[in-house]
Amino acid sequence: MRRRFYIQTMGCQMNVHDSEFLSQCLIQGGYVPAERPEDADVVLANTCVVRAKPEQKAYSFLGRASALKAPDPSKFIGIVGCLAQMKGELLLKRFPLLDLIMGPRELSRFPEVVKQMDRPHGKTVATRLELAPPCHAPDHTCFHNKATGYISVMEGCNNFCTYCIVPYVRGREISRDPDQIMAEAIRLIALGIKEITLLGQNVNSYVWEAPGRQRLSFSGLLQQVSQLKGLLRLRFVTSHPKDLSDELISCFAAIENLCPHIHLPFQAGSNRILRLMGRGYTREDYLHLVQKLRKVRPDIAITSDVMVGFPGETDQDFQDTLDLIRQVRFDSLFSFKYSDRKGTAADQMGNKIDELTKGSRLHALQDLQKRITLEKNKELEGRKTVVLVEGKSKRGNQSTGRTASHKVVNFPGISWEIGALVKVLIEKGFLNSLQGKPIGSLSPVKENLRSIEMK
Ligand code: SAH
Ligand code: SF4
Ligand code: F3S
Repeated sequence: MRRRFYIQTMGCQMNVHDSEFLSQCLIQGGYVPAERPEDADVVLANTCVVRAKPEQKAYSFLGRASALKAPDPSKFIGIVGCLAQMKGELLLKRFPLLDLIMGPRELSRFPEVVKQMDRPHGKTVATRLELAPPCHAPDHTCFHNKATGYISVMEGCNNFCTYCIVPYVRGREISRDPDQIMAEAIRLIALGIKEITLLGQNVNSYVWEAPGRQRLSFSGLLQQVSQLKGLLRLRFVTSHPKDLSDELISCFAAIENLCPHIHLPFQAGSNRILRLMGRGYTREDYLHLVQKLRKVRPDIAITSDVMVGFPGETDQDFQDTLDLIRQVRFDSLFSFKYSDRKGTAADQMGNKIDELTKGSRLHALQDLQKRITLEKNKELEGRKTVVLVEGKSKRGNQSTGRTASHKVVNFPGISWEIGALVKVLIEKGFLNSLQGKPIGSLSPVKENLRSIEMK
């Protein structure tokens, strides 16, 4: 029988993308995916440490994986990702059965690890952060029957926002060679991918400078990728407000297949807190960016990240955050309670906010945003849109996909091909999705995609 693997992915799109690469290496090594860790010979945790909660989840998963290996030493268990990077060898004290501890920058060595998994092996601990990020050359095993794919364009972060652990576990910013990025995009499109998301912790600071070549900024890279034949939709994530240039904003008007959606984390609405966070912009700067984006692309969806309970956050600071949310009316928001991360500057700050206050602020903020999201989704009722089909809905009785503005739409009929563009009339707006009715398919070659969006 073929050996089986299970990967538990926690954390951001970076980890999701890294897990695709790990799966692909394992499949190439002759392994097949298992539904549950209990059924797998190889169990991996791809971990996140951005807040205490995902870190705790990682420990409890490793506990479960160790319990599976204890009676069956032939199993291979490993931890990769940001917790592996943060704790390294120390993890062996608590989880002595671990066979692998590998940080994100070492993943290019993973294929070597796969070769040794089914033989008696030593432990591998690999956490060099100064390495160049691995190149995730995609192949068919990962992208079979998929409409959307990621390409990592840069790794790491130089911003050191005072609350954030990411720069310590993902290393300094490194941009990837645009030739590699283009080659990867061409391969994805050849595999049937219709939508590509360019990934990085802070894509706006992407820059490629090489002797004898013109300097390439992120907007230049977007232009290049967008021109690839067969690419229906292009997205990018994540943007930092302090680096969102006018040049990049104008791409939303100039590039036809660039989707009208931006994820632009604001973190807090109070200038005092933004300064303590070291974010490098004010609430006025942020509101001005939103204004500019909406001027260039009135239908642009804006989503964001925000946190409550940063050290010293007063009621007035929190009210400023709510006020910013009311002014912008985000399409959706990821909201978090501030969580102390050892080694960051905020961890050392005084005036920590108690959990109860954080909880009630988060609750109030989420209530407000739910109202706004629902109102915005209801405003779409009766409008026509274009959906890129991604598969079947959760219950399996409908097709599902996304609008260019990244909203989930479910609609009847399960015979639509994955990757097809379908014109849909929105009948109902819910909190997390839209319900539509198909009114025809679309030939992206003949029709101008933008002219039919959201009439
Ligand atoms: N690079 C991205 C975000 C990476 S982390 C950016 O700069 O926007 C994703 C989100 O987690 C952040 O936007 C922030 O809202 C949240 N986050 C990061 N550190 C946190 C902490 N210590 N406590 C609570 N939330 C945190
Ligand atoms: Fe963290 Fe700030 Fe870098 Fe985002 S920009 S990853 S929040 S340090
Ligand atoms: Fe988490 Fe690492 Fe991403 S800490 S948010 S998985 S970069």
